[in-house]
Amino acid sequence: MNQIFERTSISGIILENRIIRSATLEGMGDDAGYPRDGLITIYERLAENKVGAIITGYVTVQRNGRTVPTMCIFDDDKSIDNYKKICAKVREHNVPLILQISHGGGQCFADAATENVAPSSVSYPRYSKPRALVESEIEDIISSFVQAVVRAQKADFSAVQIHAAGGFLLSAFLSPHFNRRQDRWGGSTENRFRIVGEIISRARQQVGDFPILIKISAYDGIRGGTTVEESIQISKMLQEAGYNAIEVACGNVDMLYTIRVTKVPVKAIFSFVPQYAAMPAFQKKLMALIMPLAVKSYRPLRNYNVEAARKIKEQVTIPVIVTGGIRRLQDIEEIIAKNTVDYVSMGRPFIIEPNIVSKFLSGQQTESRCIDCGYCIFGVTNAQLRCYYGRIPSQVRQVTV
Ligand SMILES: Cc1cc2nc3c(=O)[nH]c(=O)nc-3n(C[C@H](O)[C@H](O)[C@H](O)COP(=O)(O)O)c2cc1C
Ligand code: SF4
Repeated sequence: MNQIFERTSISGIILENRIIRSATLEGMGDDAGYPRDGLITIYERLAENKVGAIITGYVTVQRNGRTVPTMCIFDDDKSIDNYKKICAKVREHNVPLILQISHGGGQCFADAATENVAPSSVSYPRYSKPRALVESEIEDIISSFVQAVVRAQKADFSAVQIHAAGGFLLSAFLSPHFNRRQDRWGGSTENRFRIVGEIISRARQQVGDFPILIKISAYDGIRGGTTVEESIQISKMLQEAGYNAIEVACGNVDMLYTIRVTKVPVKAIFSFVPQYAAMPAFQKKLMALIMPLAVKSYRPLRNYNVEAARKIKEQVTIPVIVTGGIRRLQDIEEIIAKNTVDYVSMGRPFIIEPNIVSKFLSGQQTESRCIDCGYCIFGVTNAQLRCYYGRIPSQVRQVTV
């Protein structure tokens, strides 16, 4: 317990404990992509309940990188003042607020982005086939990331986190399965790494030592994809390039591999995902029978990235954060006491109980109440983030399956 609740620093950002809120899309973007008023309340609740640091839900650096219509867009200066107010509120609680910046790449729904783009034209299941980017577009994307880092510093965020996990654009560049390019942006590890290397080296020229963290998928779980062995090498390159911390996640193809669930949340998918919600009733019934057979629910459910993160930490000196199925205080104590990694981060436990850290600290609870139903993953695609606890409320029950 003592080690979890000791004060530490990530390149000057002070954390009062080692339990971080992992980036979680809040579904608070308005039609134009600016944050809605309620976003500040979400962060305030987390901050007043003693979370070690908050990583925001991903915001896109380019309009066309918007994965779902509820995602915020951070491609101009207009929202800086708004974010400044949010940062000031969170800072009152001595909790760092870290902005996660992203580009959805090949994983954008048609109602959110005009076109899916990726390093190569390799399909993701359930998304339209992406177009391979031309070199000038890669340069534009790098500039957009750099400008977003500059804006985040102006808005008084404590740091940024570059999202290079979960199959979104930057993790697709890192993955040998998704990146089949034969130019200087693909092929060798060095070439696939180039885009994240360029982002930090150009950002550093503008923001000095402003902390820049990164989240990676250490393994894809597919043949020909990212492996832990290569991710160790990439982590050393990230450190060398100047990243200040690495958060270790997994998965590039299937969201339910990255965010694991007890069983495929069929009802949530049919209620929230437009392409399924719009199907005729008979097709839904058929799909509802097929889906659990066709879509796997992956195991283990608990602490599934700890081993990969441990291997990475052995090879780098910058802080390592691990996410994925962390639910029990006892596990966190063990991870931290053994110095397996430096920080743990959780997503869903903070959705169901934004005050989970306070509960751990007071001894009121030793485990999250999250049941890993996965309904929140699909609910947030078109509504504000909330916990559904395995039930669809009547106002969104457009579909019975
Ligand atoms: C509703 C929801 C939204 C998420 N949004 C993001 C996001 O914006 N960026 C990101 O990197 N990960 C996102 N994640 C993944 C989490 O950061 C976390 O890595 C993952 O859920 C595993 O941790 P958990 O088992 O504690 O939930 C999201 C997860 C959920 C459930
Ligand atoms: S809806 Fe609630 S219980 Fe279900 S996975 Fe999300 S946070 Fe956990």
